[in-house]
Amino acid sequence: MFLPKLSFLSFLLASSGAAAVSIDAHYPHDPHTLSGCLLQFRIETLLPSSANFSTAIQPYNLRTGLGWVPTALVLPHTPQEVAAAIRCANKFNIKVAARSGGHSYGAYGLGGQNGSLVIDLQNFNMLSVDPKTQIATIGAGVRLGDIATYLYNNGKRALPHGMCGGVGLGGHILHGGFGYTSRMWGITLDTVLSITAVISTGQILTITSVSNPDLFWALRGAGSSFAIATSFQLQTQPAPSNAIIFNYTFPSSTSIPDKVSLFEKAQEFAATAPPELALRLMTRTASFPIVAEWQFVGAYWGSRGKFNEVIAPLLAAWPADTHAEISEQKWLQALDTFAMSSIVPPHPYNIHDTFFAKSLTTSVPISNGSLSSFFTFLRDNSNAPVTWWVLGDLYGGKYSKIASKGPEDASYAGRDALWTFQLYSVPKGFIPPYPSDGVEFMGRMHDSMTKVDGSSNWGAYPNYVDPTLAPREAHRLYYGSQYDRLREIKRRYDPEMRFWNPQAIGVE
Ligand SMILES: Cc1cc2nc3c(=O)[nH]c(=O)nc-3n(C[C@H](O)[C@H](O)[C@H](O)COP(=O)(O)OP(=O)(O)OC[C@H]3O[C@@H](n4cnc5c(N)ncnc54)[C@H](O)[C@@H]3O)c2cc1C
Ligand SMILES: *[C@@H]1O[C@H](CO)[C@@H](O)[C@H](O)[C@H]1NC(C)=O
Ligand SMILES: *[C@@H]1O[C@H](CO)[C@@H](O)[C@H](O)[C@H]1NC(C)=O
Ligand SMILES: *[C@@H]1O[C@H](CO)[C@@H](O)[C@H](O)[C@H]1NC(C)=O
Ligand SMILES: *[C@@H]1O[C@H](CO)[C@@H](O)[C@H](O)[C@H]1NC(C)=O
Repeated sequence: MFLPKLSFLSFLLASSGAAAVSIDAHYPHDPHTLSGCLLQFRIETLLPSSANFSTAIQPYNLRTGLGWVPTALVLPHTPQEVAAAIRCANKFNIKVAARSGGHSYGAYGLGGQNGSLVIDLQNFNMLSVDPKTQIATIGAGVRLGDIATYLYNNGKRALPHGMCGGVGLGGHILHGGFGYTSRMWGITLDTVLSITAVISTGQILTITSVSNPDLFWALRGAGSSFAIATSFQLQTQPAPSNAIIFNYTFPSSTSIPDKVSLFEKAQEFAATAPPELALRLMTRTASFPIVAEWQFVGAYWGSRGKFNEVIAPLLAAWPADTHAEISEQKWLQALDTFAMSSIVPPHPYNIHDTFFAKSLTTSVPISNGSLSSFFTFLRDNSNAPVTWWVLGDLYGGKYSKIASKGPEDASYAGRDALWTFQLYSVPKGFIPPYPSDGVEFMGRMHDSMTKVDGSSNWGAYPNYVDPTLAPREAHRLYYGSQYDRLREIKRRYDPEMRFWNPQAIGVE
């Protein structure tokens, strides 16, 4: 039996804040350790010695996260428990990372190093919509597929968000959130009205543009460096009744100049494309015959007749024999199509991948030179060490909702992105391990686009974390000129760098 020392007891009492913590003097754990501190607060805690620990810490991406062992993983049920966990980490000077859906490309939900305290938000699973205001209140741990299904089944509502149903709301919304409705409705973080979050002091705040303008700005773009968000109030939209889903497929034998021309025409068309249109270039290695080798795909949120009108100028610019497939689908069915399986994630969640990806964004039209260099690299590397594919998403254009706000609205820096590309790779044939020369190969693929004409308009998307970037390079690419203000807010709200990952704001 163990009786806590008086000094430790006073720490607990002083730091418990609004939490109704009962101190059990008979609790058999050493309060001079982080785990003892956590257990004193009765927070559900898994330690490396716990039976389920190795399963609980499995990240989505098995390439990066497998080696990292947190000091502890806690599963709080209330903001008060999150606050208590942060105060324990402060006392023992341990770095903290939040995990919502665990889909970080760099497994940063595990802290991106050994020895962090992981605050897993899976118990923050509340979902509701106010029938009068249509404002949704959603826990940070809920996955996108469950959100979409719930919102549709409770008043036919919807949000703009990514296409993989297993992605968690917390990480997604704090660093962007792009999907096929984003040119019409904005990215997920544009829907935020308020955020309940715990900051590094352990204070629980309701963060809005009025109550905490600096944090409201910083959290929407770089949230993982500033607080642990527990829930969000979000403005929903009426779900569109139907989607026009299309693909235009080009023969793999299409020449490089013709590919450049096809893209250039799409880019010209995109400059004034209406917000209801989503457009994506999809191309992939010849040895991955799941989707066509070279195609433009997308969706239109309106009638078939209106779509025909909207797309006509692009079709007029493309070859007359362009192969088209077009279908009309209901909202949830369309989400399944985009997810390439059901948007509803399995419970318990057990999907993993072993991958490396790079992203690039550009605020100006991509030059013929860059396109030609990129497409040539892709063509000439059929013997690559990885299986790869490329997604080039149209974010911008004159009428895109994403581009309708300025840098003062949120720290998210991709508002002026015209295109956001993702270069994704897995071990050949999907059989791990990921090859040692894969990262270097994908780096060359990236550079084949960006290193052609010395243009400095290239950036990267912080939701596609690239853990191979040095921190300063990551800050420049993800945040550009927003970084200085982020750094200043970090100094004020988290001077000890409690919220940490290898690319967190303030890491040198
Ligand atoms: C298969 C797949 C498909 C994807 N598709 C899309 C897409 O279509 N569109 C798109 O925009 N993105 C997409 N993404 C990227 C995705 O948006 C990011 O990986 C996102 O950050 C994952 O959020 P998470 O909560 O699942 O991940 P986590 O690993 O839990 O978290 C990601 C980061 O956010 C931090 N974090 C998590 N929760 C919180 C919180 N509550 N408070 C503070 N910090 C927190 C973590 O510490 C970590 O740094 C996809 C990713 C995958 C793996
Ligand atoms: C740990 O495993 C036990 C037994 O399998 C299970 O009952 C419990 O829910 C698990 N806890 C967590 C946090 O996964
Ligand atoms: C992290 O810890 C694990 C297990 O103790 C160890 O195998 C691994 O090498 C460590 N990684 C680093 C980078 O120290
Ligand atoms: C780019 O290439 C296309 C076709 O290859 C050509 O029609 C167009 O004029 C070129 N644009 C510029 C700016 O050179
Ligand atoms: C193209 O679109 C059609 C109709 O939506 C769909 O049935 C088909 O699977 C798609 N093909 C590819 C290769 O994506």
